[in-house]
Parts: sequence; structure tokens; C-alpha cells
Amino acid sequence: MTKDLLEFKQDKILIKGLSKGFSAAIEVPGDKSISHRAVMLGSLAAGKSRVSNLSLSRDNLATVAAFRKLGINIKKQNLNGSPKDFVIEGAGLYGLKEPESVINTANSGTLTRLLAGILAGNDFFSVMSGDKYLNSRPMRRIIEPLSLMGAKITGRNKNAYPPLAISGGGLKSIFYEVPVPSAQVKSCVMLAALFAEGDTVIYEKKETRDHTENLLKLQGYPVNVDVPVSGGSLITVKGRGRGELKPFNISIPGDFSSAAFFIALGILHKGSEITVGNVLLNDKRTGFIKALKMMGADVNLAVTGEIPERTGDIKAKYSALKGITVPPELVPDMIDEFPIFSVIASFAEGKTTVTGAKELRVKESDRIKAIVYNLKALGVDIKELEDGFEINGNPDLKNRREPRLTALNSFGDHRIAMSMIIAGLILKNGKIEISGIRCINTSFPEFFDTVSRLINQ
Ligand code: S3P
Repeated sequence: MTKDLLEFKQDKILIKGLSKGFSAAIEVPGDKSISHRAVMLGSLAAGKSRVSNLSLSRDNLATVAAFRKLGINIKKQNLNGSPKDFVIEGAGLYGLKEPESVINTANSGTLTRLLAGILAGNDFFSVMSGDKYLNSRPMRRIIEPLSLMGAKITGRNKNAYPPLAISGGGLKSIFYEVPVPSAQVKSCVMLAALFAEGDTVIYEKKETRDHTENLLKLQGYPVNVDVPVSGGSLITVKGRGRGELKPFNISIPGDFSSAAFFIALGILHKGSEITVGNVLLNDKRTGFIKALKMMGADVNLAVTGEIPERTGDIKAKYSALKGITVPPELVPDMIDEFPIFSVIASFAEGKTTVTGAKELRVKESDRIKAIVYNLKALGVDIKELEDGFEINGNPDLKNRREPRLTALNSFGDHRIAMSMIIAGLILKNGKIEISGIRCINTSFPEFFDTVSRLINQ
């Protein structure tokens, strides 16, 4: 059946709609955000860390390669024959070596921005550069705080974009209010703070994902998180000589953002139900579930563990959905899920409005433009807003009869590609072609295997 529904043509895919409902239990690969941080903080720890279920996405492999280039020994452990288990021989906070050539940061904003914080703290010269999409993502947001801390850091186009060149060392602590809701910017400053003279204090008006805080705490590093009366979060990181990073052993839970595509498929496709097991359920990542519940979706979480972070199973069933206004305070907690959320809203009854999501314009693509372009091509009534979009959803769209081929485009963005593939599977009579699907390897190389398992039932 897979062959009939998915037809690959080099960097394109032709999709026909699913017919039968499915009932399945799946798992997804390790969380991308935690995988980056585990490799980075394992490399800076004093001793051997063991990390299992590391994501083998292109972004995460770029982080492994970057730290190998910085002199860290990172080996596959091959315990139980799993290619996803690694040993990182951490060299301590001051154990990195000056790289001899440019560090390739691939498509990864997280790698570029977090590593910039670490490199700024090291007394050597380094250059980072990524692919054409990464090299057009904004970097002033990290150059500014790192420069305030005393780093010499420059970038292309008057410090707007990568490549970035860094002459690190000699940092001092700062008080910094993060001007945009961004865990990458916050984490960049936190990592630079490990090398700075004195305590660095960071304020974020709206808390973003706290994986850096959690892993530093697990390593016994003195980090303090307070909730001030004004709300948000105030993070204090002790500086140079005030703490040590202990090695750790962790198993990385499944990536919530990868699970979201299959939750969507279960909820949208009649007669279906799905369980995604062993998924990261950090509260700052699961805003998508809250939004789905507001829409009337039958989706439930069962917590199974708390280390390294809250983990559990997600059960989702086909549901009749109604449109909602997404509360702006929920936006940072579902920031990576808007492409697939827009597909869900297209098939819900009534209007869905997303505002306060301007950050979507500077992700792997301008996601507001990419969503509007593709959904319009599918016949969805969608309006582009400066900081979001408005969709007049229609469940009958699933039965749309369009004899011609509809051509969609990923814009080189992995989450747009996967979201549109899910839309193609939902449109019963669809003949949808999506170009630019190789980028899916950026976060989820196992995506097509998982789709095949479901539709081959
Ligand atoms: C990430 C933070 C978010 C998110 C990205 C991963 C992280 O980006 O969109 O996919 O691992 O810290 P911002 O920090 O730009 O919001």
C-alpha cells in the first residue's frame, strides 16, 4: 500500500490520500533540543558521559562533528546493538581545542547559537558557517549579548548573519533581558556565563524551553531559577571557577515535535487512533496538546518518568474539531508545531486565529509565508497576518475533488515538508506533489519508515 500512496521522485514525493483508518503504537527518535545539549554539556563535563537514544538527525550529527573538531572524543557505544548510544569523553570546561577549520553548523540554529556562547568563552579563534538557510537566519540576537560580555564576534552583513567569526575569552557577567522569546538566545548567554567572571542573570518575560537549565542542574552546576512577581523567569548562572560540570548518564526521550505529526494524523483521519510512546513531555514543549484540547481533540498524556525530563505516552484518537483563537501566551510552548497545527486547523470547523507568532518568520524558512502558500494551494481559506495567520477551517475539505496535481513546496524547511505530507495523506482524493523533501533529514530521518508502518497496516 505504501507504494501506492507515496511515490518518490528524487527530491519530490507524490502522495495520495489514506483510505482505511489505522490503530498503531509507535515511538519517535530522541529529542533534538536535548540531543544538542547533551553533546555540548557532555563535552564540557569533567569525565565520561553516556547518552543513549541520541537523535541521529543531520542537525544533531553536525553537533557531534563540531565537538569532535574541537578535540572531544565522542564514540558510538553500540550497547544492545543500538547505533544511537554514545560515550562522550568530556574534557572539562576548559578542555576544548582551537578548531583548524570552519565548523559546519548545517541547518541548525540551535547548534550555531548555543555553540557561539561556548566559543565566546574560549580563548581561541573559530568560525561557524551553515547551509544557505542557516546563513540567512538572524544572529544579531546573540552577537549583542555576547559582545556585552566582552566577546569579539562578527558576522556577515554587518553582524546580521553567519558565517560568524569569534575570538573568545575574557568574558564578564551581565544582566540580560532576552528581547525575543527564544531558548536559543537564553541558552547562548547561559553557556557563555559558565566562562564569565561573576554571576550572570538572565530575565525572560515568558519562559521558554528549559532544557539547558535542567541539564546543568543534573550535572550539579549552580544554576538558580526564580519566578519574579512580574512573572517570567530569572535565571542566575554562577561564573568562572564557581562550579563544575559532572558527567551524566541519560536516555533521551522521544522528540515531542516529531510526535506531533503522527498525533495530527491520528486526530484527523477517520477511524484512527495512535499511541506515541516514550515522548518528552516538558511543559514548555507541549502547548500543542493544550491547543488541541481546546479544539475538542481526544488526546491524553500518561507520564511514565521524570529523568532527564518528564516523559510519557501520548494517545490520540480521531476527533471532530472546532476552530480556536490560540492564546498568545501559549505560542512559545508550541512554536515548532505551527506548521502541523495549521494543517489541523484547516480541517476544523470554523475560524482559527494565531497571533503573537512573529518568530515564525525567522525559523528554517519564513513559516508564515510557507504555511500560507501551501495551504492556499490546497484550497484552504487562509489569511496571512504580520505575526500569524487566520484560517477558516472546513472538515469537508478532506473530500475535495481536484483532478489536477497540486504542487507544494517545502521551502527547504523540514517541518513544512512533513506537515504537507500529513495534509496529503488526509485529503482523500488528493494527488499532491511536494518538492524539497530531503530536508526532512534535518530532524527526522526515520519519518518515512514511520509513515510506512502506519499506512501499511
Ligand atoms: C530550540 C529553540 C527554539 C525552537 C528550535 C529549538 C532550542 O528556537 O524553535 O527548534 O533547542 O533551544 P528559538 O530559541 O529561536 O525560539
